[in-house]
Amino acid sequence: MKNIGIDIVENERFSKMINDEKKISRILSNLEVKIYSEITSDKRKIEYLASRFCAKEAVIKAINKEGLSFSYKDISILNDDVGAPYVEFSFEVDFKLLISISHSNNSSVCVAVMY
Ligand SMILES: CC(C)(COP(=O)(O)OP(=O)(O)OC[C@H]1O[C@@H](n2cnc3c(N)ncnc32)[C@H](O)[C@@H]1OP(=O)(O)O)[C@@H](O)C(=O)NCCC(=O)NCCS
Repeated sequence: MKNIGIDIVENERFSKMINDEKKISRILSNLEVKIYSEITSDKRKIEYLASRFCAKEAVIKAINKEGLSFSYKDISILNDDVGAPYVEFSFEVDFKLLISISHSNNSSVCVAVMY
């Protein structure tokens, strides 16, 4: 069955955790933590955390009828060679997902479509 999810977050909510490894590791997968560790701008760190959290919430809405049990860390929101986002799971899934992310100065928004 197809499904869709959307989420929006205030980036400010993540500004206090950019150096909090424990909190970061609850949101980001190991691969995302590696990508995060290479970001030098605090603004992008906040945006990265906010948008990855937002994207995962949208993904969860899109797949929540699948009856899977997992944590944020099991989902990686990555970017292809032209910057387009895609989703990887730490386990095998039998569906596909499309996602799209946008940022303003204050917010991040993401839509996820499962098909
Ligand atoms: C992709 C693009 C539309 C982003 O627009 P923007 O208004 O600057 O930024 P937004 O905040 O709305 O979106 C940013 C998100 O877009 C997504 N994105 C980036 N490149 C993308 C692409 N090629 N396709 C789809 N999504 C893309 C990413 O998820 C990014 O967020 P993330 O880096 O945190 O993952 C813009 O950078 C663009 O046009 N890039 C292509 C440049 C290009 O090919 N130009 C050729 C002449 S048109």
